Amino acid sequence: MLLLSRIAALAALSCIVAAAPSSKSHKSSAVNTTTCGGQTYVYQEMAGYGFVPGNARDKFGDTLGGIGSSIAIDKNTWKKKGQSYSGILWALPDRGWNTQGTLNFQNRVHKFEITLSLNSSATVKSPSGPNLDLRYLDTVLFTDPKSIPVTGLDPDADGPYLQYPGFPQLPSTTYTGDGFGNNGTGGHRVSVDSEGLILNSDGSFWVSDEYGPYIYKFSPSGQMLDAIRPPNATIPLRNNTESFNADSAPVYNPNFAITPEDPSDGRANNQGLEGLTASPDGKKLYALMQSALNQEGGLKKKNRRYARLLQYSIASSPAVYEAEYVVPLPLYSDGSVAGQSEIHFLTPTQFFILARDSGAGHGQDSSESVYRHIDIFDISNATDIKTASNDAFDGAIASTKGSLDKGIQAATYCSFLDFNVNAQLNRFGVHNGGAQDAGLLNEKWESIATVPVNGNGSDGEYFVFSLSDNDFITQDGYMDFGKYKYKDASGFNLDNQALVFKVQLPKGVSP
Ligand SMILES: *[C@@H]1O[C@H](CO)[C@@H](O)[C@H](O)[C@H]1NC(C)=O
Ligand SMILES: *[C@@H]1O[C@H](CO)[C@@H](O)[C@H](O)[C@H]1NC(C)=O
Ligand SMILES: *[C@@H]1O[C@H](CO)[C@@H](O)[C@H](O)[C@H]1NC(C)=O
Ligand SMILES: *[C@@H]1O[C@H](CO)[C@@H](O)[C@H](O)[C@H]1NC(C)=O
Ligand SMILES: *[C@@H]1O[C@H](CO)[C@@H](O)[C@H](O)[C@H]1NC(C)=O
Ligand SMILES: *[C@@H]1O[C@H](CO)[C@@H](O)[C@H](O)[C@H]1NC(C)=O
Ligand SMILES: *[C@@H]1O[C@H](CO)[C@@H](O)[C@H](O)[C@H]1NC(C)=O
Repeated sequence: MLLLSRIAALAALSCIVAAAPSSKSHKSSAVNTTTCGGQTYVYQEMAGYGFVPGNARDKFGDTLGGIGSSIAIDKNTWKKKGQSYSGILWALPDRGWNTQGTLNFQNRVHKFEITLSLNSSATVKSPSGPNLDLRYLDTVLFTDPKSIPVTGLDPDADGPYLQYPGFPQLPSTTYTGDGFGNNGTGGHRVSVDSEGLILNSDGSFWVSDEYGPYIYKFSPSGQMLDAIRPPNATIPLRNNTESFNADSAPVYNPNFAITPEDPSDGRANNQGLEGLTASPDGKKLYALMQSALNQEGGLKKKNRRYARLLQYSIASSPAVYEAEYVVPLPLYSDGSVAGQSEIHFLTPTQFFILARDSGAGHGQDSSESVYRHIDIFDISNATDIKTASNDAFDGAIASTKGSLDKGIQAATYCSFLDFNVNAQLNRFGVHNGGAQDAGLLNEKWESIATVPVNGNGSDGEYFVFSLSDNDFITQDGYMDFGKYKYKDASGFNLDNQALVFKVQLPKGVSP
């Protein structure tokens, strides 16, 4: 079984991968080189590490957690001064502290000024301290089209859900009290589990979500302007009815249980649109499911391999759904599928994808992760699967056991940048595996941003930033605008960790 899945995983890599010989004397030798669709990518070295403490708070008094769910760097602000770089980074937390139940947390996006100070003398023997500084500047709170706050609370079991003129029916929840377990008048709010972020040139944001799974556009001040409802095949069904609940009971009603637990069709619980990216000209939007839909293998970790990628034209409003492809997710040692947490546009046919295992890292049972990569997929030979029948409720492109239909060619998948290389991590005092200490990498890495090393990036050298989602795990936490105090039952304090890698992209690639 184990051997078979390893072979399957290897067979899927129709690209050439060569690990460079490990050389201590040649600083310039690459960590890894991959050729994908004839294009060569080089992981040169790790270039930075930094963190925001797990108990830091935003201007509303709430814990600054989960900020690596997605990030975007404003390229116009990116500046080099000597060996130092700075710019503005936007970071998206997901649905708030949720390890003991979902809360009436108002989804938001945070603004940071980041400074990266290169340290060319960092070695495993003599590591550099943190050289990436993240200075908190501001927060934008998200609201629905009528300026009512959106919420991280799990949506209702069934409809009617909230509906506004010009919008599809929006996943929403009816809550009691203040939605935190204290007195209040109750209410009905749009539910968002925010996971993907794009910063537009006019300052507005696209945000992808796991509940719908939907894609929302918010104004620079946070008001919902648009909502994209993806094809009906992705919409969760229970008893053949739309049911956006994700089996994530609210903290004030921990015994709430949805029947059945799993939707029969559509996105699996908490496996929604994790990946979101746009072309740099702002004309195309791409969104990728974390893993397969339930009717296509989504119910089992070993079957949920074939994830749908949706392509939209956003050159004008409303967005136009253009094409759909299948991305074959990687398998790791025990045959489980590594779900993906982010994608990033490289060219109209190639994308970075962050795929990883789960249950390993700081605060987890295992400290050693076995799969945590930024890889590449290429859709140039992939079948466009956008048809009325594939996209209808219950439409499927794979069997419920996850075997892809004949005649469909999935994207080409190429393994690339492994986060877990201790020979690089240790140069900055962090590690994979070993002691459960502050230097141990967090479990969840969920974001990608790229900025040039030199000038406009025409030489192909780029920094790749990734932040982790720490699930708001702290012993000194606050929600509800500072009024709700919590200590995570795990007993852990997890920082919001950030890593920077230096890569060489192929000629002509300017993400
Ligand atoms: C696409 O197919 C062509 C022809 O078989 C092949 O040469 C090329 O490598 C393929 N590209 C990718 C990205 O798989
Ligand atoms: C760079 O790292 C070295 C250890 O390798 C450390 O001694 C030095 O202080 C660091 N330099 C800066 C500017 O942080
Ligand atoms: C909540 O309401 C109840 C009943 O009205 C009251 O007895 C209680 O003191 C209130 N609790 C708080 C924290 O305000
Ligand atoms: C998707 O489902 C909705 C709600 O049932 C329906 O109104 C709509 O026509 C369907 N979309 C397509 C393309 O069939
Ligand atoms: C689905 O049907 C079952 C059996 O009738 C029922 O118990 C359950 O509440 C229904 N679930 C939803 C979400 O309507
Ligand atoms: C290099 O790529 C190979 C093949 O995908 C991968 O198994 C390995 O972990 C990578 N090695 C490093 C050092 O990044
Ligand atoms: C990028 O910079 C290079 C070198 O300075 C210059 O030759 C090139 O025209 C620039 N390209 C763009 C698109 O600005």
